[in-house]
Amino acid sequence: MDILTALLLLVHLIPVSTAKNEVSSKSRKRIMPDPVTEPPVMDPVYEARLYCNIPSVAERSMEGHAPHHFKLVSVHVFIRHGDRYPLYAIPKTKRLEIDCTLVANRKPYHPKLEAFVSHMAKGSGASFESPLHSLPLYPSHLLCEMGELTQTGVVQHLQNGQLLRDIYLKKHKLLPTDWSADHLYLETTGKSRTLQSGLALLYGFLPDFDWKKVYFRHQPSALFCSGNCYCPMRNQYLEKEQRRQYLLRLKNSQLERTYGEMAKIVDIPTKQLRAANPIDSMLCHFCHNISFPCTGNGCIAMEHFKVIKTHQIEDERERREKKLYLGYALLGAHPILNQTISRMQRAVEGRKEEIFALYSAHDVTLSPILSALGLAEARFPRFAARLIFELWQDREKPSEHSVRILYNGVDVTFHTSFCQEHRKHSHKPMCPLENLVHFVKKDMFAALGSSGTNYYEACHKEGF
Ligand SMILES: *[C@@H]1O[C@H](CO)[C@@H](O)[C@H](O)[C@H]1NC(C)=O
Ligand SMILES: *[C@@H]1O[C@H](CO)[C@@H](O)[C@H](O)[C@H]1NC(C)=O
Repeated sequence: MDILTALLLLVHLIPVSTAKNEVSSKSRKRIMPDPVTEPPVMDPVYEARLYCNIPSVAERSMEGHAPHHFKLVSVHVFIRHGDRYPLYAIPKTKRLEIDCTLVANRKPYHPKLEAFVSHMAKGSGASFESPLHSLPLYPSHLLCEMGELTQTGVVQHLQNGQLLRDIYLKKHKLLPTDWSADHLYLETTGKSRTLQSGLALLYGFLPDFDWKKVYFRHQPSALFCSGNCYCPMRNQYLEKEQRRQYLLRLKNSQLERTYGEMAKIVDIPTKQLRAANPIDSMLCHFCHNISFPCTGNGCIAMEHFKVIKTHQIEDERERREKKLYLGYALLGAHPILNQTISRMQRAVEGRKEEIFALYSAHDVTLSPILSALGLAEARFPRFAARLIFELWQDREKPSEHSVRILYNGVDVTFHTSFCQEHRKHSHKPMCPLENLVHFVKKDMFAALGSSGTNYYEACHKEGF
């Protein structure tokens, strides 16, 4: 990413004071420009471009930055799948034509693209938990199917994988050269786009990996809550959040007018157009530089796009303020965070298993984790977004372990609610593992304002 992007990302990472501790104005100044003199940028086209995440040349990232006496113990990577074909079509318009085959003479390109395809062709069902084995291992349709990963999506994750390879394998030697299946933990939802994104990242990370050493587990829930998904309070927060969303939309007359105009163009009732979630398809037009569709009644235009995208950004802003989503996020993210700290604690005990964990997931997976960690100001997960937890050991004090949290290559460790305070008392460039553990085991539930002190209680009692 370029420096401007990095700075803007930071502007959007102002820590939220969900917990009791307000961030002092002093610590605020260090991490971001003054919000009074520099209003947050709100350019819907600029935001949309970030969301597309079109692969460019050198990306700067802060993964793996640590003083010499720190040893990398384990890495936990959460990704959103890469660029995909829309999940919805705009009714009564010509089907958007995007080619989902992988070819060298099309942009964006990655030098490992052909090798990736031929390696995938050698894969066998034995590497995948049912029902993943029935999914194609790379996109291949001349006319993309709904939700199919595109070449852009594959290249995004080949790049992610290669970047992580350079840092974690070449520089920090996370895995021994004779790594085995036990060193990895791989999990994906049952969509072809998440499986293929995970494979592309893994291929960039471990080129020409031995198929016998790779096993992808299937995760039925987008929250990765396997075995602990039943949580009535979480659903209550979600319903209230959806109600908030609905009321905000009703208040936006410009948005209603825009949907009305677009509905007229495609000649269907406004309600039906809105239900078809046109922004999903419009974003795909935008990311692929394909003009918006036209009919005999006119064309869907950039102005329509800007209005809907602007509303999305405003919706995210109100979502942060109203905290209903936070309640949903804390309960939704608990099981996967709990699993992650368990995996870290096993690594602390010296076990060499599952020291590289990869979860290939969706925006609805990353978004609650970000909010739960107190990173609500972080941008909505773009295509091929990555959220990484690094676990480190201080060689000078081997009993001390620390974590770093990175979002799209930016170090956000001290923006998390469990480590905002720590920075003031310590010069260490990372956060004690205990802070994260304490947060997941206890403080998450305190932040809910419920009387529950564990997941089960919090899922069954009223909170804020
Ligand atoms: C987008 O498409 C237009 C023409 O349709 C072309 O002039 C422009 O260069 C394209 N932009 C990019 C970034 O490919
Ligand atoms: C949290 O992790 C512990 C240890 O792995 C496990 O026993 C417990 O069931 C988990 N709880 C939840 C709610 O995920």
